[in-house]
Amino acid sequence: MQVTITNLSLAYGGFAAVKGLDLTIGDGESIVLLGQSGCGKTSTMRCIAGLEEPTGGRISIGDTVVFDHETGRSVPSFRRNVGMVFQSYAVWPHKTVVENVMFPLRMKKVRRTAAREKAMEVLTLVGLDHLAERGASQLSGGQMQRVALARSMAMEPSVLLLDEPLSNLDARLREDLRVELRHIQQERGLTSMYVTHDQQEALALADRIAIMQGGRITQLGTPEEVYASPASASIAKFMGVTNVFAVGEASGNEVHLADHALSLRTAVAAPDGAASVAVRPEDVVVRTEGSDGFAGTVEVCVYQGSSVRYQVALDGGPTVDAVCPAGPGALARGERASVEIAPESLLVLPDEVTDTPAQDEVAA
Ligand SMILES: Nc1ncnc2c1ncn2[C@@H]1O[C@H](COP(=O)(O)OP(=O)(O)OP(=O)(O)O)[C@@H](O)[C@H]1O
Ligand SMILES: [Mg+2]
Repeated sequence: MQVTITNLSLAYGGFAAVKGLDLTIGDGESIVLLGQSGCGKTSTMRCIAGLEEPTGGRISIGDTVVFDHETGRSVPSFRRNVGMVFQSYAVWPHKTVVENVMFPLRMKKVRRTAAREKAMEVLTLVGLDHLAERGASQLSGGQMQRVALARSMAMEPSVLLLDEPLSNLDARLREDLRVELRHIQQERGLTSMYVTHDQQEALALADRIAIMQGGRITQLGTPEEVYASPASASIAKFMGVTNVFAVGEASGNEVHLADHALSLRTAVAAPDGAASVAVRPEDVVVRTEGSDGFAGTVEVCVYQGSSVRYQVALDGGPTVDAVCPAGPGALARGERASVEIAPESLLVLPDEVTDTPAQDEVAA
């Protein structure tokens, strides 16, 4: 079901945590809210779920207005049909797995046999049907999180809100569950909002990523769009672009770095207000000295299996990060190198996104 959020604000006392946020989640769409700790992700979710009273704005789920500050309308949480999965495992340890999943259905007066049938269906979906009769305390972290997911899905919520549900799990399990979650979400056409501060997770799970900074959405786009064209230097850094340099002066297709006697060529003329240039480590080519590009010295060389990560100090320039395919021709620490940065791979960016509506004041 479509979720429409208009000009949403939330203040805790005098502190504005969410500042005039606009977002529409399409029916069956997976939106990932990606942003640094404290930027307002959980707060936004709690407003949708009805666990927090916004200080302004409007929220609709399908055709139902569940919150409207203007009219004072606020549908209580339990009537919103919103499923939520949190970071911590909220399972009842003294109940069995299937009882955990049946519980909310039983609270809604669904008959025992029907509730059990539904519970078994979603447990099969998350791959836990074989553990249905086990005590929930005798599960691994990943299994508990699947129980929590199954329980929220059993209610067939109009929208599923997932707040960093995988962050307590180890790296390997995270990756497996991530793929599974995406599969279930797509197969079932679940309308969902997923919160994370892990960019890999965001890229994997999103139809669209909403970058959140300081209580606002500063960029909204497909994973490909956000990855390829971050809207600001701070977003680029957040998306894992480690080479970000301040621009001193830009003229035509050439930018001079602020703190170094070095110029880089860009594919397009740098726009007004361009404050930084950024380049992904994967787009930096490092070769033995004498090839095209800037001369420099390899300071750090880290073998990563299929690739090698370098830090190369350019003569009279900054130190750049590069990730190159491993294999013959790899350079060692201390060796001289040539570093090439193709104009097409250079991102010319403002430091921050400024064209979102400024609404720093707490809504009355
Ligand atoms: N109950 C509260 N009272 C006062 N301030 C709060 C409360 N809850 C959150 N905040 C503040 O609001 C801001 C947004 O918090 P929120 O929990 O939404 O962040 P988040 O993006 O989910 O961060 P994280 O990634 O760390 O979970 C933070 O600065 C936080 O300190
Ligand atoms: Mg949070």
